[in-house]
Amino acid sequence: MKKKLLVTAALPYANGSIHLGHLVEYIQTDIWVRFHKLQGRECFFVCADDTHGTAIMLRAEAEGITPQQLIERVHKEHTEDFAGFFVEFDNYYSTDSEENRFFAEDIYLKLRAADLIAVREIDQLYDPVKNMFLPDRFIKGQCPNTKCNAKDQYGDSCEVCGTTYRPIDLIKPYSVVSGATPVTKQSAHHFFKLSAAEAFLREWTRSGALQEEAANKMDEWLSQGLQDWDISRDAPYFGFEIPDAPGKYFYVWLDAPIGYMASFKNLASKKNLDFDAYWKAGAEENADLYHFIGKDILYFHALFWPAMLKNAGYRVPTRLCVHGFLTVNGEKMSKSRGTFITASSFRQHLNPEFLRYYYAAKLAPTMDDLDLSFEDFVARVNSDLVGKFINIASRAAGFITKRFDGKLANSLPRTELLARVQTASQDIAAFYEAREFGKAIREIMALADLANQYVDEMKPWELAKQPEQEPKLLEVCTVGLNLFRILTLYLKPVLPKLAQQVEAFLDIPPLAWTDAGQLLTGHTIKPYQHLLARVDAKQVEALIEANTQSLQDKPKVNVEPIGETIGIDDFSRIDLRVAKILHAEEVLESDKLLKLTLDLGAEQRTVFSGIKSAYKAADLIGRHTIMVANLSPRKMRFGESQGMVLAAGDGNGIYLLNPDAGAQAGMRVK
Ligand code: 2FM
Ligand code: ZN
Repeated sequence: MKKKLLVTAALPYANGSIHLGHLVEYIQTDIWVRFHKLQGRECFFVCADDTHGTAIMLRAEAEGITPQQLIERVHKEHTEDFAGFFVEFDNYYSTDSEENRFFAEDIYLKLRAADLIAVREIDQLYDPVKNMFLPDRFIKGQCPNTKCNAKDQYGDSCEVCGTTYRPIDLIKPYSVVSGATPVTKQSAHHFFKLSAAEAFLREWTRSGALQEEAANKMDEWLSQGLQDWDISRDAPYFGFEIPDAPGKYFYVWLDAPIGYMASFKNLASKKNLDFDAYWKAGAEENADLYHFIGKDILYFHALFWPAMLKNAGYRVPTRLCVHGFLTVNGEKMSKSRGTFITASSFRQHLNPEFLRYYYAAKLAPTMDDLDLSFEDFVARVNSDLVGKFINIASRAAGFITKRFDGKLANSLPRTELLARVQTASQDIAAFYEAREFGKAIREIMALADLANQYVDEMKPWELAKQPEQEPKLLEVCTVGLNLFRILTLYLKPVLPKLAQQVEAFLDIPPLAWTDAGQLLTGHTIKPYQHLLARVDAKQVEALIEANTQSLQDKPKVNVEPIGETIGIDDFSRIDLRVAKILHAEEVLESDKLLKLTLDLGAEQRTVFSGIKSAYKAADLIGRHTIMVANLSPRKMRFGESQGMVLAAGDGNGIYLLNPDAGAQAGMRVK
């Protein structure tokens, strides 16, 4: 007997719309869950809106509504978007719920009882006009790196030189909320002593809970030493007040993953399920817990979350399924290029199941990014779904309706083809199980090719002209529709609505995985109606057009005043070189940084550069840029940065410099 299964997808923030990037995760999780349900496994899929924190509080204020009104509105929007893409949660809840408050307090109190909470005073920047402490992202100022001093940098790191620092280190800081100069104020904060969980985390990392790439990241973090985690924030804050600490609130990331438990608890009350059988320590024996997440939030799910659960007497996750980001036409989603596309906009122009199919065809269980190339999207959907899959039914069904009153043959010969398509259910199931969706789709389409070849060879349109071939015509069309029915089943996790339409056409109950073993004979089907229309490239153009931010919407360039004059001698002391980017990778723990390996002709350098928001690491490899080669090396949290690459920017965008074609690595720039 297989274990029960509880699956989660990351909780989206309650202040933004669902877009195609989010859908990479929700669609893949939904496919995996639907597959397990088709297999008859007891499986629940829960999620919720992530509702707490300063950003949501301020957004509501700016809109002149309460946070509760904001999260209620967004909850409705998110629910509609998910339903529109057939992402079917067993429960879609909210972190601003009584269940979540209960578990957040419960876990906190258990950690405190285990002496895992420390309270200490820290210095923090405070907005004296707004009367609130400022999170790092709400403070800007000049970069404290004396060699850089770039203006308008966020409180955690500099986008120009990549230095990471504390907000109180910023020069001339200002509050993004009120514009006031913040003052330093002390405040008592609550910390979770994460280092106490080190031995457990080392063991959990190697328990099969992580993909290899994620386990390697964990090793890196563990070897750097675990820091205490600040889990409290001062009022005003939209969240849960910490028991016995008036005016102190749980940090949004403390109660967000607890939202998984809360959503399940809420479901359990509605459906009379045994909550403990899934969540209490030891539940690992009977129930699996899978979290689907993006690689940007691995840190929270692989360190804090299991450590919190373990030390509060709950079960730990069976596995994290970590995926990469979405690129569109090979680049980051971009408003100006029209590729930052919301779920609701996509649905207005294109069939949402086409996106499900395309993502499935490209997904593998790795942390690699997934590219949505619209040209490929149109070609693949038309050739696979319309040209191969639907074609089988449209070529066989008409004859059954017209010539046999809709009734299929009473029996079928056990042909090699039928057997091959039926037994493929095992391999396809194994691919789905292993989240090798791309492989599953390739196998299904190979079978669709075989089915079409069969129809081509049997030529039912020729048989139909010869009255003595009537029994053969019935047999061929019945085989064709049986192949179509089994392929529909195999595609059902990916295309649930289309599968439902096919079930209605065949007039059969909902297909389950074991139905691959049976054939449909002596049964009357409904008249065939066209099931799927081709995508037209014009629909894609209209979608991009609708999402392109017009030039008028473009923010004006923030032109910084030009600095003090320097002499040519000063300038010539800066050794600028052409550098070739040999390798680039993301620094997962940082929102901003890419780690670059640069070829300078005579030597190689490692440089950490704050350009992650504008560039995808893989796209930079092989490109030339300009670097400051004689900048003294700087120790950063992630390693030593040996120089700096040059980029233009005004706080809104980042544009890496590159020399004209022909410039070679190592050439001096003067
Ligand atoms: O990164 C995000 O979008 C978070 N809202 C994800 C939270 S996932 C879980 F921990 F709640
Ligand atoms: Zn800087």
